[in-house]
Amino acid sequence: MTEVPEYLFERSRQRRIALGLLEDDGSGAAVASDSGDSDGGQISSGPSSADVIAAAKADAKLEQVTDIDIEPQWVTAARTRTKIPMWVLPIMFFLPLWGFVYVKMTEPPPEPVTAMTEGAATYAAQCASCHGGDGAGSEGGGVGRPLYNGEVLLTFPKLDADMILWLTVGSEGIGIGNPYGATDRPGGAHISGETGANMPGFGGTLSEYKIYSVARYIREVLSAESLSDEEIAVRDAEWEELGGGKDVGGHGGHGGH
Ligand code: HEC
Repeated sequence: MTEVPEYLFERSRQRRIALGLLEDDGSGAAVASDSGDSDGGQISSGPSSADVIAAAKADAKLEQVTDIDIEPQWVTAARTRTKIPMWVLPIMFFLPLWGFVYVKMTEPPPEPVTAMTEGAATYAAQCASCHGGDGAGSEGGGVGRPLYNGEVLLTFPKLDADMILWLTVGSEGIGIGNPYGATDRPGGAHISGETGANMPGFGGTLSEYKIYSVARYIREVLSAESLSDEEIAVRDAEWEELGGGKDVGGHGGHGGH
C-alpha cells in the first residue's frame, strides 16, 4: 500500500474538527471512524448528515471561488480586453467595395478606340513583319511592297472595294498573274505574284472593320493621304457602320488571333 503523507492526515483531521465530528483534543480519537462505514448511531451526538452536506457544499463553493481567483493571466486578458465595437461591422463590410470604387475612380479612363489607333495596332500585329513598321517593305528589307511615301496611294487611288478586296483575299485570291489596283499606275500595273512572294488574305483573320481601319492607317499615316474633315468624318462613320469602336481599351492590336 502507498504511504499516505502525514499532512494529508492532518488536513482530514482539521476538516473533521471543523464539522464537529472530532474533538480537538489532539488525540485523534474519532467520533466517527475513518473507514466511513459508520452508521447513524455512532454520530447521533454529532452534527446531522444535512449539516455535513451543507458544509461540504459550502466547501465546494469556496474552492470554486478560489479557482477563479487564480485564473491564468491570459484568461483574464481575454475577458477584460477591449472588444471590437459592433458599429465597426458595416464598415468592415463596405471597406472592400469602397476600395474598389476608389481605385476605379483614380484610374485614368481607357483611351477611346478610334479607327486610327485600331488600324495602328492591327498593322503592328499583322502587317509590319513583311511591310516594316514604317511601311518601307522591300525597300527596308521586308518581303512586302512599300506602302509609305504615297506608294499605296498610287496602287489604290481610292479607299474602295478594290483595295478592301486585295487585303481580304491577298495574292492568290486575286489570282497569280492578274493585275490589281490602278492599271494606269506609274511604272505599270502591279501584278499578283510578280514580287516573287505572296501576300496572305486577311478575310479569315480580321473582321471587316479592322481591315477597313488598317487600310486607313496605311493610307492616312504611312502614305500621308491628305483628306478634308468631311472625308475623314465619312470614313469614321463607315468604320462604325462596319462595327468599329465597340471594343474598349486597346484590344485592337490582337484582333484576329
Ligand atoms: C507574309 C508577308 C505579308 C504580310 C503579313 C502582309 N503583306 Fe502586304 N504584301 C506582301 C507581298 C509579298 C505583297 C506583294 C504581293 C504580290 O506581289 O503578289 C504585298 C502587297 C501589299 C499591298 C499592295 C501594295 C502595292 O502597291 O502593290 C498592300 C496594300 C498590302 N500588301 C497591305 C498589307 C496589309 C495592310 C497587311 C496587314 C493586314 C499586309 N499587307 C500583310 C506581303 C505581306
